[in-house]
Parts: sequence; C-alpha cells; structure tokens
Amino acid sequence: MLSKKLLQELRKQVGYELYSAHFYMAMEAYCVSKNLDGFANFFKVQTEEERAHARMFFDFIHRMNGEVVLDAIDKPPANFKDLLDVFTQGYKHEQFVTSRIYLLMDIATADKEHATVSFLKWFVDEQMEEEENFQKIMKQLELIGDNVNALLMLDRELAQRVFTVPAPLATQAQ
Ligand SMILES: [Fe+2]
Repeated sequence: MLSKKLLQELRKQVGYELYSAHFYMAMEAYCVSKNLDGFANFFKVQTEEERAHARMFFDFIHRMNGEVVLDAIDKPPANFKDLLDVFTQGYKHEQFVTSRIYLLMDIATADKEHATVSFLKWFVDEQMEEEENFQKIMKQLELIGDNVNALLMLDRELAQRVFTVPAPLATQAQ
C-alpha cells in the first residue's frame, strides 16, 4: 500500500514527466526554427518518451488504488543560445529527474513498498540511459564547434531516432 508521502511524490512525478515533455517540445521548436530536422526529430521522440513516462506513473498510481490529481505544468524555456545550450540544459534536467527517481526509490525502500521499488527499477536504468544520451551529444557538439558539415552529419544521424513504446507499457497493453 502506498503511504501518503509516497503517493504525493508519485503524483508529483506525473507532473514532472509532463513538464519534461513540454520542455523537450520547446527544444524541438527551437530546432525546427533552425531547420535542423534531425535534431528536431530527436526532441520529438524525447517528448513522446516523456509522455509515456507520465502515463506509466499515472497508470501505476491507479493500479495501486491511488487517486491521481494533476497540477499545472510550468512554462518551459523559450530561448536558447545555441544547440550546446539546448543539450546542456537537457542534461541538467535529466540529472534533476534522476534525483527525483532516487528520492522516490528512497521513500519506497524505507516504506518496504516492494511493488513500487520494482516499478521504479525500470526508471533507474532509463535515467542512466537518458543522461548518457545527452552527455554524448553534448560532447559531440563541443567537438563539432563551428564545423557545419559535421553538424549536418549529426543532424542526419539524429533523424534516424524512432519512438518505441517502453517495454512495461507495451506488456501492460496486451
Ligand atoms: Fe522521463
């Protein structure tokens, strides 16, 4: 059973995941405005992933017999200096989300709420991947510097990214 505190923090996480979708959609818009379709695609997929994460928390709370109460979503940043700024902000945001998942895991562990611990494990691994992704592209952008050809090559690479429904959601739907 979910404690009051755990339920409260899980509800907040639905909001943080929805904010993440908003945040990455703002980045998608920036990339579209720069005609960088591959980078825009990267953030489009990222946005879809975040919506899926919100859905996972939303469904989990209901499955645990909890009630979901939604809050307002904060306004995302509207201006970015350049692509490196975009990915640096994205990386910092992912580090924040990781700290949120760890907080949830700490509460669930202290509560001996094993179902929640099991549910959260997927997110611990997912966050590691997210941080790796952002850090990798950040470093590549630093290497690229002002080299337009290299930037367009990376843009073409990022155009290949496709959204796949997270495994726990896909199995749940069956
Ligand atoms: Fe997420």
